[in-house]
Amino acid sequence: MQSVKRHSGRVAIITGAAIGNGQAFAAQLASEGAQVILADLIEPAETRERIRALGDALEPFIVQVDVTSESATREMAAAAKEKFGRVDILVNNAGLYDEEPFELLSLDAWKRVLDVNLTGLFLSTKAVLPIMKHQGHGRIINLSSDTIWLGTPYLVHYVTSKMGVVGFTRALATEVGKYGITVNAITLGLTATQRPPGTRLSQGNILAHLLPPQAIERAETPEDIAQVVSFLASDESGIITGQTVNVDGGVARH
Ligand SMILES: NC(=O)c1ccc[n+]([C@@H]2O[C@H](COP(=O)([O-])OP(=O)(O)OC[C@H]3O[C@@H](n4cnc5c(N)ncnc54)[C@H](O)[C@@H]3O)[C@@H](O)[C@H]2O)c1
Repeated sequence: MQSVKRHSGRVAIITGAAIGNGQAFAAQLASEGAQVILADLIEPAETRERIRALGDALEPFIVQVDVTSESATREMAAAAKEKFGRVDILVNNAGLYDEEPFELLSLDAWKRVLDVNLTGLFLSTKAVLPIMKHQGHGRIINLSSDTIWLGTPYLVHYVTSKMGVVGFTRALATEVGKYGITVNAITLGLTATQRPPGTRLSQGNILAHLLPPQAIERAETPEDIAQVVSFLASDESGIITGQTVNVDGGVARH
């Protein structure tokens, strides 16, 4: 039997929950009592096993979804509503990271990144919002990136999409506060698990390269960010909305 925990009775959709940060967010919310819905293009078997290994977490519900598809995101929301009757938390985590110098950046690559990182967020939110509005409660958490503060090179398409996430967060928060829904964003730094595509650097080298600019001289982990996600998903953060929390060990100042 489950004991009463911080997110007991809450239903959470986490997009991009199969690996990386999304997996950690799902595990954190599940460990604190939420019924989690793992929404991803790929099979989130590893995340499901990690949650099962917690012992007293609710069995995760899996929905295959491409967040760039309007019909698929609607089906995701409908499946959640049908199975659990509500959706309290939406973590818009699914994202695409792709390095390319601007002069080599193709229109296709530009569109692909904006499509997943921005349109995907729009569609997932659009599908879930009516459920939150109806129940008079909701927490929407959008994953941005500290590259928006740093102006990181070779990522113009990515940085543009992640700045869009902040604009989306601010404007939507103003519209939906009256329904008991908060909308916040997190700008995270490069986490210990990610290797930039195409790099031949080992993890150790990447960290040696990255850590000096951090005020906190240790690698950031998905679990660090999961703590912030959990707070923004909780009742305790109910007066915080339209905000962007920077979680990067103190690289950027915001
Ligand atoms: N890892 C980092 O260092 C870092 C830094 C800053 C911001 N972020 C942001 O955090 C989020 C997660 O990053 P990550 O590194 O864990 O990513 P990841 O690449 O490890 O995982 C992304 C997940 O999203 C899923 N996904 C991709 N496209 C999808 C789609 N169209 N529909 C549904 N699912 C889709 C993938 O299958 C995968 O499971 C992203 O929004 C990313 O931009 C990550």
